Amino acid sequence: MAALIDTVTEAVVDARGVNSGVAPVTYGHGERPPRGDYAQARADYTCEQDWAAYSAADHDLYRRLYERQAAQLGGLACDEFIDAIGLLGSPAQIPRFDALSEKLQRATGWEVVAVPGLIPEEAFFSLLSRRRFPVTGWIRKPEEFDYVVEPDVFHDLFGHVPLLFNPMFADYMQAYGAGGLKASRLESCEQLARLYWYTVEFGLIDTPDGLRAYGAGILSSAGELRHSVTSREPQRLGFDLDRIMRTRYKIDSYQSTYFVIDSFKQLFDATAPDFKPIYERVAGLHELTADERLPTDRVF
Ligand code: PHE
Ligand code: FE
Repeated sequence: MAALIDTVTEAVVDARGVNSGVAPVTYGHGERPPRGDYAQARADYTCEQDWAAYSAADHDLYRRLYERQAAQLGGLACDEFIDAIGLLGSPAQIPRFDALSEKLQRATGWEVVAVPGLIPEEAFFSLLSRRRFPVTGWIRKPEEFDYVVEPDVFHDLFGHVPLLFNPMFADYMQAYGAGGLKASRLESCEQLARLYWYTVEFGLIDTPDGLRAYGAGILSSAGELRHSVTSREPQRLGFDLDRIMRTRYKIDSYQSTYFVIDSFKQLFDATAPDFKPIYERVAGLHELTADERLPTDRVF
């Protein structure tokens, strides 16, 4: 689930005041039609998973995506992710969200809830702040096996859910949601979305065995996982909250900069202080392009 969504939408309420689904949300400036069925969504943008509607081909596509990705995790994904991946259940079928939620509830108090696709920022933050992770119901088409523009059920589940079993990361995600509601009021969502992008989606972590990926965008990507950890092309910089909030990102190619945390505790502690003065400070500084290098950067 990407946090940065440009289209502002509101619940669609019909003449009798009955909620008849919500307005669809698309990435960027809405040149493509939305893929999910927003008419079935509740006012908080959640919906039923409708597991029975998946075809055998859908389950098979999930299994092939899962197996390709699972095969390359060793040496590239962090241990916390690898240790938890089995909790998603059998790769043979798209998991049932309710069964997965029961396991997650017991582990960290989180649950997964179905959504039709991308949802507005506020709805997204609100769900996270209540320890509910929105997972897209639909799966990509076979011809999108290597690349899909919008997050689908494979990205959302495989990429994001394993780390929700980790207590420290689980707490970070909830804090992010609460922080998002606050950032909306302060009109600082763009700065906060960069934090999500460079940690939750594309974060790397330094371990005794070397750099490893923990970001969902790279863990669910066939090509970028190895690229992010081993390629000589991108720059890898030490985590720096102000720096991240100033740094733009690319949504249509591999990242040219990754930020590296020392531990999930470092990430949690660094983001615990009140962001209001940080937003104010950052607003006074110029933005940085996705591949800029500063003299103060800690380079890996
Ligand atoms: N400390 C942040 C604030 O005051 C909240 C937050 C925590 C935001 C973790 C993101 C991640 O806004
Ligand atoms: Fe995501």
